[in-house]
Amino acid sequence: MKKGGILLAATGWDSALWSRMFTDAAPGRQVFVDPDGRTDDSVDYAIVWKQPAGSLAGLKNLKVIFSLGAGVDHVFRDPLVPDVPIVRVVSNDLTNRMSEYVVWQVLDHHRMGPKYRRQQQDAIWLEDRSQPAAKDITIGMLGLGVLGSDAAMKLKVMGFNVTGWSRSHHHLDGIPTFHGQEQMPAFLAGVDMLVCLLPLTPATANMLAMPMFEMMTKRGPLGAPVLINAGRGGLQNEKDILAALDIGTLSAVSLDVFQQEPLPVDSPFWSHPKVTLTPHAAAASDPFSLVKPIVDQMDAFDRGEPLRNLVDRKHQY
Ligand code: GLV
Repeated sequence: MKKGGILLAATGWDSALWSRMFTDAAPGRQVFVDPDGRTDDSVDYAIVWKQPAGSLAGLKNLKVIFSLGAGVDHVFRDPLVPDVPIVRVVSNDLTNRMSEYVVWQVLDHHRMGPKYRRQQQDAIWLEDRSQPAAKDITIGMLGLGVLGSDAAMKLKVMGFNVTGWSRSHHHLDGIPTFHGQEQMPAFLAGVDMLVCLLPLTPATANMLAMPMFEMMTKRGPLGAPVLINAGRGGLQNEKDILAALDIGTLSAVSLDVFQQEPLPVDSPFWSHPKVTLTPHAAAASDPFSLVKPIVDQMDAFDRGEPLRNLVDRKHQY
């Protein structure tokens, strides 16, 4: 039986590399790189990252959309996205990369990396041994999906006190968890460092804002809380973050994502002394670990087997 084709619609990615990898991994399937989409029945599966609006609308045979990212808000930005199952990436490689980023940023704030870098720049030797112990710092993980759970467990192994919040109830061994809007204040009240790995959905947009920052503890060893966002820029109110840093409601932030990417050259975040920023690089999607599992899912679906890692359309994640 002839195998259905693949359309790759990945804006801003190395399409030549990805299409070569899919061609090699999926013998018998045609791979199209067609930014405007197609209007025939040659494509069964679309592989997307920020697909151009409408580019999937003419695919008469489309069966499944595979997102190349763990977050799928980019898929829903297209008002003409067809009503077929959407599968997100879940891979140990991506999960490990994200946890590395989170542990790196948490440790950097915990061990006062920004302060020591400033002192080094000014050649200042100041013997300051007032480092708080990990056990005295509470890290609050916002979002307890695959990524948030893994990062939370790894921080716990480091000796931090870790708590978690998610929309619906999640159980994590040894980690107190909170859920739903009603439990948000109780969760935030004990948090010294807030790590956000939430999906961006209509329900979470702009939630990292002043009312939340004001609910976090200021009694902890860091003085004022730290925010680390490696989810999506759309989750954060950037004016509020800057104001909170300036008035001391937040002591520092690490941001991997921004409302507008690339971050405009005149953004105040670039040079703010309390900001550590990275260019949406916390957890890259690596073709060498992602392509084969996606192709395996296509073959399994062709055989009538169920899809894994399906996105819930209602909640958009
Ligand atoms: C990257 O941002 C992803 O969603 O995997």
